[in-house]
Amino acid sequence: MVQESPVVLGVAGGIAAYKAVELLRILRESGIDVVVVPTANALRFVGSPTWEALSGRPVATDVWANTHQVPHVRLGQQARAVVVAPATADLLARAVSGIADDLLTNTLLTASCPVIMAPAMHTEMWQHPATQRNVQILRARGVIVLEPAVGRLTGTDSGPGRLADPSAIAHAVRDVLRRRPQPDLLGVRVLISAGGTRESWDPVRFIGNRSSGRQGIELARTAISRGAEVTLVAAAIEVEPPAGALVVRVESAEDLRAAMHAHAQVADVVVMAAAVADFRPADIAKDKIKKSDSGSVPELALERTTDVLAELVVKRGESRAPFIVGFAAETARDSEDLLTLGQEKLARKGCDLLVVNDVAAHDVFGSTHNSVLILSRAGEPVVLVRQPKEDLADALWDTVRNRIPAR
Ligand code: CTP
Repeated sequence: MVQESPVVLGVAGGIAAYKAVELLRILRESGIDVVVVPTANALRFVGSPTWEALSGRPVATDVWANTHQVPHVRLGQQARAVVVAPATADLLARAVSGIADDLLTNTLLTASCPVIMAPAMHTEMWQHPATQRNVQILRARGVIVLEPAVGRLTGTDSGPGRLADPSAIAHAVRDVLRRRPQPDLLGVRVLISAGGTRESWDPVRFIGNRSSGRQGIELARTAISRGAEVTLVAAAIEVEPPAGALVVRVESAEDLRAAMHAHAQVADVVVMAAAVADFRPADIAKDKIKKSDSGSVPELALERTTDVLAELVVKRGESRAPFIVGFAAETARDSEDLLTLGQEKLARKGCDLLVVNDVAAHDVFGSTHNSVLILSRAGEPVVLVRQPKEDLADALWDTVRNRIPAR
């Protein structure tokens, strides 16, 4: 039996090294062979016995162990993927400058496989222009740098800089392993809206919709694993956003509108997968609306919201011109009717592609599967039969990739 090459898990010297133990466990449970390469400083946080016991392999940090096997070049050459978690500010800087003073940095210099970095550090270090520049350089070289999560850091501070969730990093590793050798959306800046908006009526009530956000989140996750830089504008969602996306939380259609316009300025591709409310209560009551003893019910007057997709299309001429993808939820009589409704909506919205869902056909909302029709202004419609939303996301990115300029 041919042994599959291992994945290298590089661990740099940060407190989040303890979370890499969980990442290692998840990767091993998924049947992935892992060689752990901690830096000397990482071993101050978690010792070799832990890495060796969980990976089932010896651990080395410098290039002087087992020199007859030339590990400083062999590991990088043979690895299927290298994932560095946590990647500290120092490790990112060393990787950028090509310093090779330990086994991990040597491995990074010799790796021709996909490389994923999951940074973790204090917010100031993450936001420092030196670190941000290093991240840009690594991304330009094809490294997938996952955005750190936002939240409580070591000590009392809080902000961006937490290591992304280990299960989400493992997901990104699995995605990269099953994908083409080189990520094909490198350098593409993608903005995706997902989930359902909530329109307040009073401080406790809102009008919402059944969107789970799954399709938009799968689109974000697959784009990240293909090398894109992803901003996810998330309204109400039922599933966790992927590791590596910059997540902007919004509630109402108006919040979503503001976030989309702000981030569209620098996007190459915009995907409106969110279910945006078409109507909202005309007045939001300041206090909770009480039941009346007489049994009468309150009137609910609605007003229209702005069509964000149509507005993004109109405004794109003003600055850069991102490629814009819309979604359409339709209840059609049959496939011909679905096509007609889709074509009408495409003409109305003016976007480059429209992904049409028949929401009457089967459980679309909350389901892990879906079937869609992709319409463009020129060219034949593409029918994607019922399949996991993850595969649909990949097929949609294939279509988008073929239509945007190569970079
Ligand atoms: N959309 C939007 N702003 C809105 C409503 C919808 O940007 N206020 C976007 C959705 O994100 C989706 C597309 O428009 O990408 C189509 O949404 P859909 O609900 O299918 O269509 P509507 O425009 O709401 O039209 P209708 O309800 O008449 O089918």
